[in-house]
Amino acid sequence: MDKLIIEGGKQLKGEVKIAGAKNAALPLMAACVLAPGETTLRNVPDLADVNTMGRVLENLGLRIGHDGDVMALDATTITSDTAPYELVKTMRASFYALGALVGRLGRAKVSLPGGCAWGPRPVDIHLKGLEALGVKIELEGGYILADGRKMRGARFVLEFPSVGASVNLMLAAAAAKGETILENVAREPEVTALTLMMIAMGVPIEGTGTTTLRIEGGHSLNPVDMRVIPDRIEAGTYLAAAGLAGGDVTLVDVNPEHLSIIIAKSREAGLKITEAKNRIRIQSSGHLKPVDIQTEVFPGFATDMQAQWIALMTGANGSSLIEDTIYNDRFTHVPELIRLGAHIVMRDNVAQVTGPVRLEGAPVMSTDLRASASLVIAGLAARGKTEISRIYHLDRGYERLEEKLSALGARVRRETA
Ligand code: UD1
Repeated sequence: MDKLIIEGGKQLKGEVKIAGAKNAALPLMAACVLAPGETTLRNVPDLADVNTMGRVLENLGLRIGHDGDVMALDATTITSDTAPYELVKTMRASFYALGALVGRLGRAKVSLPGGCAWGPRPVDIHLKGLEALGVKIELEGGYILADGRKMRGARFVLEFPSVGASVNLMLAAAAAKGETILENVAREPEVTALTLMMIAMGVPIEGTGTTTLRIEGGHSLNPVDMRVIPDRIEAGTYLAAAGLAGGDVTLVDVNPEHLSIIIAKSREAGLKITEAKNRIRIQSSGHLKPVDIQTEVFPGFATDMQAQWIALMTGANGSSLIEDTIYNDRFTHVPELIRLGAHIVMRDNVAQVTGPVRLEGAPVMSTDLRASASLVIAGLAARGKTEISRIYHLDRGYERLEEKLSALGARVRRETA
């Protein structure tokens, strides 16, 4: 298994191009299933999760071609209605096949994703929403069997604005004859990106970017040419890395509007941040102030940035409280950060970080994608050598990580076992 070796303690300097967002590319790829013909997606990141979604879709009969970051997805013929356990268990977003297949074929057989390292992660809202649209749902051998032959537009209030449930319900609603009104929909930029793609495909939708979507289903859809929005979490990760290690880094090809709260909190922490249309410059002396955060749904502070914020706060002068209200158990990075010398005390879903500490390199283990990112941030600032094992987690969500960090002056290399 590959390892990442970081010789820390160097400031970061230079420009880094931010890739297309993983969490936008995945629902956009799933949406291709809805329209017969060839859809083109641009700015698609080269990531393990994108490959997994590609395999899910190829399994359904799509033909997929790549040319750099341009992906062509031909959904002329769908040959299967099944997303198998082997694929869904490796990536939860494979569950988007459910909404996409119900939207295209009116039926689906999709494995239930199961839990993950952060807790149970249920899909009850996805299923209740589909039932509200008239889809018959049965569970058989760990698979959801969905029959959408009697599907029709309906009103459904999501009890929580789940990103995944919003995506699945939008995809299915495209085929539900009449008007579907989804209330309390997620407003994450990745959901808005899907709304815009579906409108371009020929689904009349009102309420883009708001919590209520009115979707007029049942039209025939056409393939489109779309650009994937920039990855706000990759951007936030480089921001935190520059913040803790110190230096002067400019993120290129970002949308600062998607990072408003991260930028505001970073300024509170003492970072100098300059925003331009699609660039963010971070200047850090490495002297930071403690700033509390609480994760919230968008436009609040993203749970996907919680681990990186904890790493940043190890360098702040004083105590900060970091609370995850979205995933109570998402703190597997804390014991690993403590191995690097961080002072962190956990109380339920709140981490109290006290700094500043001089982190010292050590062998640590990746436990999930963003947890691993926090170890990279800490390793870059730590004195000496940090060896991060199980970095396949990082490959799920960070494109060419070593290359990008090396270009900023970091000493990072991958060791292939
Ligand atoms: C997506 C992101 C993930 C991010 C998360 C929260 C993708 C591929 N993944 O995951 O990186 O951390 O949003 O921003 O985009 N819930 C239920 N029932 C459901 C669905 C969700 O109770 O049916 C709860 C979850 O347990 C969690 C909360 O809702 O507490 C948010 O989950 P959700 O927004 O669905 O996250 P994902 O779409 O899985």
